[in-house]
Amino acid sequence: MINCELGMSKPFDIELERLIGQPSYSGAVGVVDVARRGTFFLETFGCQMNDHDSEKVAGLLLSRGYQQVESPEAASLILYNTCSIREKAAQKVFSRLGEYRTKQGDGQVIGVLGCVAQQEGEDIFKRAPWVSLVCGSASYGKLPEMLAQLEAGNHRVTGLDTDTDETFETEVARRDNPWRAYLTIIEGCDKACSYCVVPYTRGPERSRPSDSILREARQLAELGYSEVQLLGQTVNSYRDPTLRKMRFSELLLAVSAVQGIRRVRFTTSHPSDFTPDIVSAIESESKICDHVHLPVQSGSTKVLRMMQRTYSRDEYVEKIAMMRGAKRPIGITTDIIVGFPGETESDFEETLSLLEEVRYDSLFSFKYSPRPNTPSLAMDDAIPEEEKSRRLAVLQEKQREIQSARNAELIGQAFEVLVSGKSRRENQWSGYTTSHRMINFASQDSALLGTYVQVRVTDAGPNNLAGTQEV
Ligand code: 5AD
Ligand code: SF4
Repeated sequence: MINCELGMSKPFDIELERLIGQPSYSGAVGVVDVARRGTFFLETFGCQMNDHDSEKVAGLLLSRGYQQVESPEAASLILYNTCSIREKAAQKVFSRLGEYRTKQGDGQVIGVLGCVAQQEGEDIFKRAPWVSLVCGSASYGKLPEMLAQLEAGNHRVTGLDTDTDETFETEVARRDNPWRAYLTIIEGCDKACSYCVVPYTRGPERSRPSDSILREARQLAELGYSEVQLLGQTVNSYRDPTLRKMRFSELLLAVSAVQGIRRVRFTTSHPSDFTPDIVSAIESESKICDHVHLPVQSGSTKVLRMMQRTYSRDEYVEKIAMMRGAKRPIGITTDIIVGFPGETESDFEETLSLLEEVRYDSLFSFKYSPRPNTPSLAMDDAIPEEEKSRRLAVLQEKQREIQSARNAELIGQAFEVLVSGKSRRENQWSGYTTSHRMINFASQDSALLGTYVQVRVTDAGPNNLAGTQEV
């Protein structure tokens, strides 16, 4: 499962420099030279997979002569890339579509993309008849045909297949970050966790051929990206469909070997497929980032069974021990759900004790949200909302204490940082370490964006690190 927020810690008082992405070309087919057709506005919610899907959709539209604009009012085509992982996100979609309707001008076309599109399908036309396009993520490869239908005046255009792999081979991606590029290696998910909509909205697991991944990695390096982030809901479940049958760890090494690539990240890993060869690859190749996001979801084996997570607490802890035993320290982060149906106080306490045992560098925590089509929807013993909120607050407080202590241990250490942000305050910058810790730091240099510098940590709080550049 891919997470919805980027970054292990939030920047304090640092405004990310506006990242102006140049178009990047990620496929064999060149840019189609067509007359300007119109303008589009694209809004995105959700995980990194959604962010990257939007980059592909934007690239496709730009290559067809559309121009991207900053407001829905200025657009002839309004696209909304949606998330349905939790109820709140999905509810937002229809209120947002209502807002678009009130702004909708003459001839403006509104389209819904992503997980809510896939989940609700043609029902969206009933609830929001002013929408003309409903398209799930697996069908973006067919967007050119769909656009042609819209341009021809069709008001009910859909793309709702879930088992295609056309999303891999889009012609162009307009990447938002000039230094770090997302690279999808596996789509969909076969894990069937009982609370999760992803297997329904993104379809079954499909791995991308290793030669195609490596081709794109080489193109990214040529375009000047020095960091690539391999993406998949369960990225380490990768199974190469070609005769080379590369394992995930071999793929990590092969991408690292591409000339010009300096950092390789990957997210999100599933504990059941996290094998020792991945740790060995991280140990042997410093370009592979020393950070693993390994969602546990609960510290109670009973709850893990109800969640259909395919591992017990002990098995998970063994994976952590394997990582902690690595020659190179590895940053570990996780996702936790509190208030799953039937989670007792003592189950919850097991989650708290797991936090103490593992001492994560950071985590994302969520209140359980019942979702359509999922097995857990029918489970008894729902936990009241106030109790979920209480557990969430207790969990977050515990993690805050752990993070304060962990971050304090870093004071005095120096890290390589890829500089990606610049503050309004003079001489203040920010960037990420290989273990995906954000550091705000001072430097007398004036042109640091996109460069790699050594930063020594001088100060730490639960959610931030501060330092100075080493000279
Ligand atoms: N309710 C709450 N959290 C959920 N997640 C996935 N499905 C749900 C749900 N129904 C969380 C998991 C996952 C993260 C991206 O979102 O923790 O790892
Ligand atoms: Fe992740 Fe499980 Fe959802 Fe698959 S089903 S995306 S493994 S939470």
